[in-house]
Amino acid sequence: MNILEIIEKKRDKKELSKEEIEYFIEGYTHDKIADYQAAALIMAIYLNGMTKQETTDLTIAMANSGEKLDLSSLNEVIVDKHSTGGVGDKVSLILLPLVASLGVPVAKMSGRGLGFTGGTVDKLESIPGYQTGIDIHNFVENVEKVGISMISQTLNLAPADKKIYGLRDSISCVESIPLIASSIMSKKIASGAQKIVLDVTCGSGAFMQSKERAEELANEMIEIGNLANRETVCVLTNMDEPLGYAVGNSLEVIEAIQFLKGDMPKDVKEVVLELGAYMVQLAGKGEDIEDNKARLLNNIENGKGYEKFIQLVENQGGDSSCIKDIHLFPKANYIEKLYSQKNGYIQSMNAKEIGKIVCDLGAGRIRKEDSIDNAVGIVLNKKVSDKVEKEDALVTIYANSKEKLEEARKKLLEVIKIENEEIEEPRMILEIMK
Ligand code: URA
Repeated sequence: MNILEIIEKKRDKKELSKEEIEYFIEGYTHDKIADYQAAALIMAIYLNGMTKQETTDLTIAMANSGEKLDLSSLNEVIVDKHSTGGVGDKVSLILLPLVASLGVPVAKMSGRGLGFTGGTVDKLESIPGYQTGIDIHNFVENVEKVGISMISQTLNLAPADKKIYGLRDSISCVESIPLIASSIMSKKIASGAQKIVLDVTCGSGAFMQSKERAEELANEMIEIGNLANRETVCVLTNMDEPLGYAVGNSLEVIEAIQFLKGDMPKDVKEVVLELGAYMVQLAGKGEDIEDNKARLLNNIENGKGYEKFIQLVENQGGDSSCIKDIHLFPKANYIEKLYSQKNGYIQSMNAKEIGKIVCDLGAGRIRKEDSIDNAVGIVLNKKVSDKVEKEDALVTIYANSKEKLEEARKKLLEVIKIENEEIEEPRMILEIMK
């Protein structure tokens, strides 16, 4: 067997065997297969797809590519959460401390920004001092001590996914059902989750643009979960406009802190409560979904969710003074508002385009080794369906160069569509699939 034959087979739309998939994953993980060969194979998979059997074999091979976390010492049902990606998606930053404050242990391994979407690890690293790369011992110890730890994929868990994830981002091969399903499920299987809640985003700011494609992805992940004996619930959520108001790393952390202190944008609140209620249910800590939502909300009101977030940050070496006083976060050099040029109602704000604008401001990567600027991004002043008058602020831009500021201003004016007709507020929860 050799990699050229495997690339050729997928290029010619043939089905790969389990042995061929294992050969690729083992070889690429241990640098025996070059990046350009892996890129060719990934592109062939992207273009020609995979059968269900191939996707399952790929997932298991990736999950077995490194160590597997054993969380049995915690003596609890471990429920993990993952999102298929979005723009302004700060859900994990809010949801995970919140469910941890109800006694659901959280041992979460997150990703970096991918394509035009943001990543929780990049957001966490915008908190000065926060260590996302702690070792396995400290990771488990933090979960035991404060009930939550959130880290990057630095442990040797599913290392094949880590390499392929970075590669896909740099060769425009992200929006693929087999590649997304295997990426997410391999990480969940390797990281010791017994039950899984997935936020499957759908719309212009998601990798799945239609509900049908999102359902297809959800089905694939539920099937893999069943085969691997991991009960999986998928919540399909709307990602047509950015979630909440902020897009950009520290700007989203600030929005998450404000949420935990009770200032909850309606769309973020709906998504957080729905996912949280299922996490609590799967953890065996509350059967009734509506009751679980009320308990989560109560822990916002009584400050327990916010306190858990502070504990998380301090335990991971972060400087909690920034959390207590958000003005201490480093600021962008240029902070300017963009004003509406007409009256009307906001019809749409294409989240993918906004994600790209924010990446261009410096918040995302073009090449996998690029560094990112935590302070830049945008904060929306209006959401879809809101009424606007001429000269109302539409969005505030945070930039570190005059040139990038002007570029963002121009593009944002094209992306934010305003017409005379009133439109309904978008529905956030599209479907629950089990
Ligand atoms: N999140 C992941 O972990 N992997 C993907 O491929 C997409 C979103």
